[in-house]
Amino acid sequence: MHDGRLARSLVIALFFLLSSGIFLIGPSSTEVLGAEEETFEYVGVTKCKMCHKSAKQGEQFGLWEKTGHAKAFETLATDAALAEAKERGIENPQTAPECLKCHATAFAVMDDLENQKITLEEGVSCESCHGPGKSYMKKKTMTAIRAGEVDGASLGLIQPTEEVCVECHTPEGNSFFKEFVYEERIQKIPHPIPEAAEGEAEAADAEAEAEAET
Ligand code: HEC
Ligand code: HEC
Ligand code: HEC
Ligand code: HEC
Repeated sequence: MHDGRLARSLVIALFFLLSSGIFLIGPSSTEVLGAEEETFEYVGVTKCKMCHKSAKQGEQFGLWEKTGHAKAFETLATDAALAEAKERGIENPQTAPECLKCHATAFAVMDDLENQKITLEEGVSCESCHGPGKSYMKKKTMTAIRAGEVDGASLGLIQPTEEVCVECHTPEGNSFFKEFVYEERIQKIPHPIPEAAEGEAEAADAEAEAEAET
């Protein structure tokens, strides 16, 4: 009896030791759906672009590029931004955490920017909504996630809902807040995968795949 219990607690202790060791490597960390903390790395929008730019795949990159999200960092250099910053005693909004936290995905890795592929200039990019991409962006992985064979969340891929949006679309610290109605706003940034592309492992992407793995 006694021995069995000891053995079991040893197994449990070992499990915790292993899981904490495995999950806490790498520079950036994100809380995934409130679960235990796992660590995923940002890759930047140029990686996503490699496979998400063709008309056949749905041009997600080109569609995103036309939205305000892609210009969110530029916006911090406008007269309106400078006036707002002055009022709040901020010298340069493009270097101020108070602004960057909602205007640039790369804010999440601000203290390690020189070692990152992601840049502040890309503004609010894919990984703000979908999660850091390093672990899920391989073609095989992405196709398997899409097919429901792999749990995207376990690799850091987020299926964004209103909850993700309102982290930034909140009046707190945001003087330019406009009422946020998810059902209306989501219509303004559509980027679906066309039905024709479903399940297709594009041969043309082989090159991109090889590049993504480096
Ligand atoms: C090497 C190619 C490749 C790269 C790089 C890539 N993707 Fe994908 N992605 C795919 C493929 C292929 C699919 C599945 C599409 C299909 O089956 O039609 C997919 C699907 C997705 C889906 C839908 C998943 C689902 O379950 O509905 C999202 C979201 C996504 N990608 C986001 C991203 C983001 C964000 C990045 C950059 C961090 C990225 N992808 C980088 C190839 C790629
Ligand atoms: C990381 C912060 C952040 C997240 C997350 C975010 N947004 Fe935004 N959003 C912004 C900022 C900043 C702007 C203003 C960009 C600008 O004009 O410079 C904006 C602008 C917009 C606009 C107006 C610009 C346009 O192109 O029409 C829409 C619509 C929008 N967001 C929808 C959404 C939706 C829907 C979600 C969730 C799926 C979302 N946003 C998530 C920061 C964010
Ligand atoms: C909590 C997130 C958040 C913070 C912090 C934030 N912003 Fe924004 N900002 C937004 C969102 C979201 C929008 C888009 C407005 C909308 O559609 O609701 C926006 C829009 C703007 C706009 C565009 C206004 C327009 O309509 O043309 C400017 C300029 C701006 N922000 C400057 C700043 C400056 C400067 C700071 C720092 C002092 C800052 N923001 C901090 C989220 C934020
Ligand atoms: C502002 C948040 C936001 C940004 C930025 C964003 N997405 Fe999405 N994305 C979403 C949401 C929300 C959905 C789900 C749409 C829905 O349910 O209607 C989605 C869905 C997708 C899908 C699946 C579409 C489908 O038909 O199932 C792909 C692929 C995708 N995004 C890729 C990208 C790529 C690549 C980028 C960057 C170039 C990007 N997204 C930028 C919020 C975002």
